[in-house]
Amino acid sequence: MKFPKNFLWGGALAANQCEGAYLEDGKGLSVPDMILGGDINTPRTICKYIQKNKFYPSHEAVDFYHRYKEDIGLFAQMGFKVLRISINWARIYPTGEEAVANEAGLKFYDKIFNECHKYGIEPMVTLSHYEMPWHLVEKYQGFYSRIVIDYYLKYAKTCFKRYRNKVKYWLTFNEINAGTMADPLASIMGLGYMTRKDLQRNEPCTFDELSDNPQERYTALHHELVASALAVIEGHKINPEFMIGNMISHITWYPRTCNPKDILAWQQKDAIFNDFCADVQIRGEYPEYMLAYLKNHQIDTSYILVNDKKILKEGVIDFYTMSYYISNCVSTDPNVEKIGGNLVGGAKNPYLQASKWGWQIDPDGLKYTLKAISSRYPKIPIMIVENGFGAVDKVEKDGSIHDDYRIDYLRKHLIAMKEAINEGVNLIGYTSWGPIDIVSAGTGQFYKRYGFIYVDKHDDGTGDFSRIKKDSFYWYQKVIKSNGEDL
Ligand code: BG6
Repeated sequence: MKFPKNFLWGGALAANQCEGAYLEDGKGLSVPDMILGGDINTPRTICKYIQKNKFYPSHEAVDFYHRYKEDIGLFAQMGFKVLRISINWARIYPTGEEAVANEAGLKFYDKIFNECHKYGIEPMVTLSHYEMPWHLVEKYQGFYSRIVIDYYLKYAKTCFKRYRNKVKYWLTFNEINAGTMADPLASIMGLGYMTRKDLQRNEPCTFDELSDNPQERYTALHHELVASALAVIEGHKINPEFMIGNMISHITWYPRTCNPKDILAWQQKDAIFNDFCADVQIRGEYPEYMLAYLKNHQIDTSYILVNDKKILKEGVIDFYTMSYYISNCVSTDPNVEKIGGNLVGGAKNPYLQASKWGWQIDPDGLKYTLKAISSRYPKIPIMIVENGFGAVDKVEKDGSIHDDYRIDYLRKHLIAMKEAINEGVNLIGYTSWGPIDIVSAGTGQFYKRYGFIYVDKHDDGTGDFSRIKKDSFYWYQKVIKSNGEDL
């Protein structure tokens, strides 16, 4: 039972959660720059204008923009083979509408990629990780407007051409399937979509005050799928060697009981949430169950144009990637006990423990998921591009950090991966989420930490950004060195 020889070990980051420097070198405002932090009980707040005297976690984040050399050096010490980052769209096209790309923004990522290559680390780039230029949201309601496909494609082509020889692995959109949910955070961050009514509010409003319009949201999601397919087509023209992947937020669902009603509800949930987008991106067309679902929910699908079908057919991806943190249950019982989760919660599973943020820990679920994906899409390689444990870390008097809970979580998930590989899954790599502490996307907190490397930065804005290696740093180093033998 072994990991393959060239297994891609590494870590994953998103620009808006680590870089900071939110207006430096010509960068424009992007969606997360407008969002205040919250916590497990307090939803995040979106502002139409930057409010004075408020703390926006993405504005400085963990200052990766200025400290990338130190950080990539630390990743290299752990032995990373791959580093997944995102390019912040608003660094390259500050409003999204410019005709000419911002050279200073492009140069920054040149420096990042050069630094990676210095250590033999393969960069993997997400083109859009929850960070659309804010201007495109305000003017066009993000991907709800078809024109945003053109702006995205212009941006994607700029990146593909510029980094043609520096980056081989690309992901078009982070967690594209988040758009299937009536969740404001997912809509605004993933699709750049807000209802017109919400955009007209001048006062900041919390995510639970925002409205949803499924017709518009599914239109936006369709445009994003078309944009993704066009990027695949154009990317392959620019460099046929590119490996271009999708990225699915995989929340593994189980029926809460063997009541056939629960089974049916689970089947539907799993299909719409986990399968639909991947089916489009891999098989090149809308599955029948989805068209029926949209029809049954009174969604008019005239936004699917004849030419879109051709684009979807042609722009199929090269490898399947996903985030995996949790599993949740589906139940038809209105009184069932509920639990939270990544973007979306569900019914509580009595067999699982949960993190402090209510995310259920389920390594067996990862094995099950990998096997399910592999039998659904037998031909393409799979990669886990996010997985990790958000927890509170304590710095001891001597400066050490004993994060055995994180090691335990990761170890169990790596064992599950190994077992899945042993049972035939073509898994090519693993990038743990937030190898260095970053801002949480869901709550905007620094308090919720994922890193192997601690960053001295806190939710009240204090901290000197100094970096400390946690126990997990040395553990992951050992894991990579032994190619997953020494867990
Ligand atoms: C994923 C996102 O859904 O979950 C990341 O792609 C995010 O951006 C990660 O940070 C963990 O979620 P959170 O809310 O703990 O940051």
